[in-house]
Order: sequence, then structure tokens, then C-alpha cells
Amino acid sequence: MPGNKCVLVTGACGFIGSNFVKMADQLVPGARIVCLDKLTYAGNLENLAGFEDGDNFRFVKGDICDDVLVNKLFGEEAIDTVIHFAAESHVDRSIDGPAEFVRTNIMGTFNLLEAARKSWLDGKRDPATCCFVHVSTDEVYGSLGDTGYFTETTPYDPRSPYSASKASSDHLVNAYFHTYGLPAIITNCSNNYGPYQFPEKLIPLVTLNALDGKDLPVYGDGMNVRDWLFVEDHCTAISECLKKGVNGEGYNIGGNNERTNIEIVEKICDLVDELAPPLPSGESRRSLITFVTDRPGHDKRYAIDATKTRTEIGWEPQMDFGPGMKLTVKWYLDNSGWVANVRDGSYKEYYEKMYGGR
Ligand code: NAD
Ligand code: DAU
Repeated sequence: MPGNKCVLVTGACGFIGSNFVKMADQLVPGARIVCLDKLTYAGNLENLAGFEDGDNFRFVKGDICDDVLVNKLFGEEAIDTVIHFAAESHVDRSIDGPAEFVRTNIMGTFNLLEAARKSWLDGKRDPATCCFVHVSTDEVYGSLGDTGYFTETTPYDPRSPYSASKASSDHLVNAYFHTYGLPAIITNCSNNYGPYQFPEKLIPLVTLNALDGKDLPVYGDGMNVRDWLFVEDHCTAISECLKKGVNGEGYNIGGNNERTNIEIVEKICDLVDELAPPLPSGESRRSLITFVTDRPGHDKRYAIDATKTRTEIGWEPQMDFGPGMKLTVKWYLDNSGWVANVRDGSYKEYYEKMYGGR
């Protein structure tokens, strides 16, 4: 990628966005990175510690729904690429309070698309040099039974307010491509794991509860299946799709790594037993597993068929699940300062409300 590119990264202080920015030197070498993040409960500037405003980096605290701010940013910076991560991302929160998901995920994406349209299609810029990468999810395809996979042609069938809001935003991106010719691609990825994930999601939540000797809440019978991908592999896939993807196309990204939730939780228990001091009771962390009321509308199984991305983009995941999980669990155990800071924020309140301090 030429050195004069300017990449707007929305949601840069969240889990995947911050991993992407940390890898930007290798993923988008020489590019200027402009980060826009509202710093919601899930956004933590500490995730970008070490980055300072300068020739190749700028951080702006702001809301993607703020059209004045977003248009100003497109005026101030020669943005030719958008990597759009910013979203409300937690399914359980979308069940408790869907309004913010509709606002951020739909209206926020609409606002960014409008700003890109005005800036890129005004005749002063060559749209061939621009691209809007919309980072979406496999959840838009709905829920699988025991067999089959999601492909790029699987009909959309979202079932939670979160996935419905992401599906809506995907439709808007497609509409802007077909109607206005906005250069855009969509990536639909499976569940990510790795460092810097907010500890409301299964893997960091269970890791930290296991460390603290608290209950490990498993929804329903623990037999729901997710396809887990190491976060850095997702970031590489996004940059490869940016370089080699065709505008107007969608690309599925997955780990080819299906696991039941109970398998994930047991694996974490074993890793925490191995890496942390034993529980005072001397029991294995598996003794903390507690089956709790299921998530309403809980999707049974997600599984990505990433053949198109493998054959047309040439991307494949590099991290194996065993080493990836060990690295991830160790990261949360080693970064107690980060965990404490996250827990001091509004996360703490939410944690008490959702899990009653368990
Ligand atoms: P996250 O919740 O960790 O981070 C979201 C970030 O967006 C935070 O930094 C937050 O402050 C910011 N943000 C939220 N609302 C904003 C607003 N109105 N304006 C500006 N910034 C705002 O999310 P994540 O897990 O890193 O997910 C990033 C993207 O990837 C999301 O679009 C999500 O749908 C998608 N995705 C996530 C996964 C996964 O497993 N985590 C898998 C596939 C796709
Ligand atoms: O598939 C991609 C999606 O993966 C992303 O689009 C979402 O942003 C991301 O949050 C994730 O959604 P999930 O709902 O699959 O992730 P979560 O970590 O919340 O849950 C993973 C599975 O574990 C799910 O089946 C619900 C279950 N679970 C979750 C929590 C938080 C539990 O059993 N107990 C829990 O405490």
C-alpha cells in the first residue's frame, strides 16, 4: 500500500480495532492512521498506549453518529480508506437495551457512508483509490443446525437486536455500492479471541472469573457452537480483503475451528489451573462451572465457509487454537493492571447487574 494512504479506523479503542492499529505497520505500511472512537464502556484508550498524534497517527474522541464531526474529519484528513469497526458488539446488552445498537450500528454506519460518499464521489477524487471496509459478523446469517456452513450467499436471518442492527448496516453498505458506486466491501467474521477483549465476552469473562474462584456461567446446556478465530488473523484478513477484494463483494472470515461453549470453558479452566496458583480448596477450576438460564433466542451454531476468502484473497488463519488460547489466557493473567482499570469503569456496574458479583 503506498505511503500516502490515509486510513480512518473507527472503533480503534475496542478489542479488534486496537489489535488492528497495533498491527497497522505491517497491515497498511506507511499509511496515516486516523482513529475515531467514542470511548464507550468498551473503548479503552489504554488499548492504544504508546501511540501519539504525529505524522502517521491521530486519535479523535467522537461519535460516528455525529455528522458534523465526521464530515469535518473527512475535510481535515485525506481519508481514502475506512476500516469500520465501531459498533455496539455484545449480544446480551442488545437484549437489555437495543436502542443504542440501532443508533450506533445503523445510524452511525449510515453517517459514515454519507461522509465517504460526499468526500469520494464529488468528482475531485478518484474513487478507484478509495475503499470503505465494513467489518461485520457471521451472526447476520442466523443460526445453523448440526450441519452446514454460512457462505457469502446464505440469506440473512438475524435473530438478536445486535445481529439485526449489523445486518441492517450491511444492507446500507451494499445499497451505497449499488446506488452511488461507493467503493466498499463487507467482511463477515466468526467469533474472535485474543488480548484486549472486554471481559463481558465468554473467553475473558470465564478466564478472569476462574482466576478469582468465581462461578463460571454457562448458558443453557453449553452445547452451542461458535467458530473461533484469533484476533490477529481477523486483522490480517481485513487488510488482505482491502488489498485484493472486489468492491461490492462480501468475504466470509472464519477459523475453521468449531467448539462447543462447554469445551471452551473447560479448556480455560485447565489453562488457568496450569498457569495460576491453585484454588484455596485445591479443586480444579472446572468445579466452578455453573449452568445458568439460557440467553433468549440463543443462536445454536455458527460455522463459516471461508472458501471464497481463501481462494480469491489468498488468506488463511495462521494461529492454531491450542497456542492461541494459551497465549490469550496468559495475557489476561499477566495484565492485572489492564483488568483492574477496565473493572473500575462502568464495566463494574454492568458486571454486578448481569452477574450479581459472582
Ligand atoms: P468492541 O465492543 O470491543 O469495540 C467497539 C469499539 O467501538 C469501542 O472502542 C467503542 O468505544 C467504539 N464505539 C462504540 N460506539 C461508538 C460510536 N457511536 N462512535 C464511535 N465509536 C464507538 O467490539 P469488537 O469486538 O472489537 O468488534 C469490532 C467490530 O467487529 C464490530 O463491528 C463487531 O460487530 C465486529 N465483529 C466482532 C467480532 C468479535 O468476535 N468480537 C466478530 C465479528 C465481527
Ligand atoms: O460470531 C461473531 C460474534 O461473536 C460477534 O459479532 C459479536 O460481536 C461477539 O460478541 C460474539 O458474539 P457471541 O454472542 O457469540 O459471543 P459471547 O462471547 O457473548 O458468547 C459466546 C458464546 O458463549 C455464546 O454462545 C453465549 C455463551 N456465553 C456467553 C457468556 C458471556 C455463555 O455461555 N456464558 C457467558 O457468560
